[in-house]
Amino acid sequence: MKLRLAHLGFLFFLSLVMTACVPVREAGAPPETIIVVIGKSVNPYWSNVEKGVEAAGKDLGIKTVFFVPPKEDVAAQIQTMETYIAQGVTGIAIAPSNPQALERVMKKAAGAGIFVTTLDTPPVEGSAAKVYIGTDNYGAGQIAGQTLTTLLPNGGKVGIVRGSDTALNALQRTEGFLAAVTGTGIKPLTPMNDQEDAAAALQLSNSVISANPDLAGAFGVYAYNGPAWATAIKEAKAVGKIKVVCFDTTTDTINGIKEGVIDATVAQREYDMGYKSVQIIKLMAEKGVEPALNEMGAMNGIVTTGVDIITSATLKDYEAALDARGIPHEWTTRGWTPPLARPSQ
Ligand code: BGC
Repeated sequence: MKLRLAHLGFLFFLSLVMTACVPVREAGAPPETIIVVIGKSVNPYWSNVEKGVEAAGKDLGIKTVFFVPPKEDVAAQIQTMETYIAQGVTGIAIAPSNPQALERVMKKAAGAGIFVTTLDTPPVEGSAAKVYIGTDNYGAGQIAGQTLTTLLPNGGKVGIVRGSDTALNALQRTEGFLAAVTGTGIKPLTPMNDQEDAAAALQLSNSVISANPDLAGAFGVYAYNGPAWATAIKEAKAVGKIKVVCFDTTTDTINGIKEGVIDATVAQREYDMGYKSVQIIKLMAEKGVEPALNEMGAMNGIVTTGVDIITSATLKDYEAALDARGIPHEWTTRGWTPPLARPSQ
């Protein structure tokens, strides 16, 4: 009897040990949904993307992972893709800093059954990515060019600084900008590349200003380029003399608008890019690629998120519109009066 009890005790102990060793997931149960989003650099712009990714993960009850290298770094993007391919995640959304270089690993991920999409920066033609979610960069570049043309009715030299010579969003924005200023009095200088390094952007902006004392305008292609131009222009005591049009609405850019150093910025909808990337991959995993693309309103493999053009006159309305949608932002215009509404002195 004693022996049998001891025997039963051992069996009970054994079953406890075995239960502890059994994987959390039951055999045959669907794998946990994990969606990875890979951006391009450490910047408040990408923090906004991350907020969208996190919100979608929370709303949809799935696990998300977000990664950005400190600055433009194709090797780090490839390495991160490899890591998550090996983990067999559900999907990877990436902003390819060099779409040609990233395509091989994107194909590898797709071949392994991972849903691959792109956000913010388009992939190559015929890519393994199922969709691009982001701005129409050529069109947005044109808007920037038209805005600067209006600000500079007499034309003049314009400096251009951008964060990449390979990322398609930088190239398409520049092309759209150049197309819009062609045939006007604007003389664009050769675009300079800072490789998404804000310190390098400032140095380049400074050097363009000192090499061109007659500079009339500046185009900032990536999020930190507007603030870099603003700093360089303040240092050169050329506020108002050099007109600035740039991209995005990080706090430094908004401060530049409030101070009157930055004239206009093309606001992207990066929070939506992050949110929708998670949403579409979850739909792909549940319903299949085509139904997911249809449900998200993709046209020719693109979900365009749209842009807003922000000046000191539209800033308050823009902030109110973000607030109404519950989209977080770091700046506040509370207590600030747009110049046009200020009583004349
Ligand atoms: C671009 C991103 C870039 C970011 C840099 C944005 O305008 O869309 O591709 O990484 O600027 O902060």
